[in-house]
Amino acid sequence: MKFWAVPVAAMSLTFAACAPMPTQRDLSQMSGAEMYESLCASCHGARGEGDGPVAPLIKIHVPDLTRIAQREGGEFPAEDVHRTIDGRFDRPAHGSRDMPVWGWQFYRGETANDPGERARVDAMIGKLVEYLRSIQKG
Ligand code: HEC
Repeated sequence: MKFWAVPVAAMSLTFAACAPMPTQRDLSQMSGAEMYESLCASCHGARGEGDGPVAPLIKIHVPDLTRIAQREGGEFPAEDVHRTIDGRFDRPAHGSRDMPVWGWQFYRGETANDPGERARVDAMIGKLVEYLRSIQKG
């Protein structure tokens, strides 16, 4: 490694760590694929195969999102996938959730029941669901 490579590598790492989280406005305007890349790929992998850089740090297995339909016998369960990503309405009987509750991450209303916000969050999750549908294999 050349003598200057170490500080340069350290600097680019610092920049990557400080990359700003996209604002809510940016997010609402992104396509499903773009949202996936900025919010989901760290765990689920660039191609959705469950092999993102953060996956080894998580206690439980990070699922391969390209085989959801295959695991469900061939049919992509869009509604379940929507609810899982949202997470606001799921009350797991046991255990905790290792994935962020995106329904609340996207939400910015004053009250929990703001209809405009609910529609906006649903539309954002809908784009993610359609993106996941588009990457199903087998
Ligand atoms: C911090 C890591 C992490 C991030 C970031 C993450 N997930 Fe997950 N995801 C998981 C884990 C772990 C599971 C397994 C279930 C659990 O723990 O909740 C999971 C489960 C899922 C499932 C259920 C898969 C199945 O087979 O039923 C879907 C769908 C999903 N994630 C979509 C997404 C989407 C879309 C995003 C981005 C908006 C995302 N995830 C971001 C860790 C993550």
